[in-house]
Amino acid sequence: MGDWREQGCTLWFTGLSGAGKSTLAEFLTPVLRDLGKKVEVLDGDEVREFLSKGLGFSKEDRDTNVRRIGFVADMLARNGVVAITAAISPYRAIRDEIRARSSAPFIEIHVHAPLEVVEERDTKGLYKKARAGLIPQFTGVSDPYEPPVAPEVVCETARQSIEESAKLVLAYLEQRGIVPSGASAHLD
Ligand code: ADX
Repeated sequence: MGDWREQGCTLWFTGLSGAGKSTLAEFLTPVLRDLGKKVEVLDGDEVREFLSKGLGFSKEDRDTNVRRIGFVADMLARNGVVAITAAISPYRAIRDEIRARSSAPFIEIHVHAPLEVVEERDTKGLYKKARAGLIPQFTGVSDPYEPPVAPEVVCETARQSIEESAKLVLAYLEQRGIVPSGASAHLD
């Protein structure tokens, strides 16, 4: 592997709505940029406004959405960018398919918090609506979420601070030679 500065990758965050995917992506972005990395974030909500406008939440539409994100992420990653994705991406087979197709390191990060915790947080008020039957096929409530079997990193956002979660990701990137060694110590 050449200079770490040139090494892109896909940081694939997966997890329930409200687990902290976007928050972690936003926290890591300036940290990685300060380390000299090029970074782009493909956030679920933002992607659905542009790249995937018009798609809904059936399995078919989610698969299309997630495949699009994977396609763009890999284009960026193979050009030296740290492509951070933050979509629920609930289906294991599709994530595995994207991993298999990736031409740059594909790093899967399970952003995990128990359903009770994300429901209690209810950042967007959607769990309440889903429980009331106002949103059909809501992930975790009335639609499946298939956790990764062997993710590279697991962030337990109910028990860890955002700094602790970010540090786990950075430590892994150090190990892979994507950021310089000692990078995770920047968060101390
Ligand atoms: S994915 O399943 O296709 O990966 P994505 O991350 O793009 O999902 O979008 C999830 C976001 O859409 C949630 O954070 C929530 O704000 C919103 N949303 C609206 N309807 C649903 C639903 N039925 N299931 C999950 N999220 C939904």
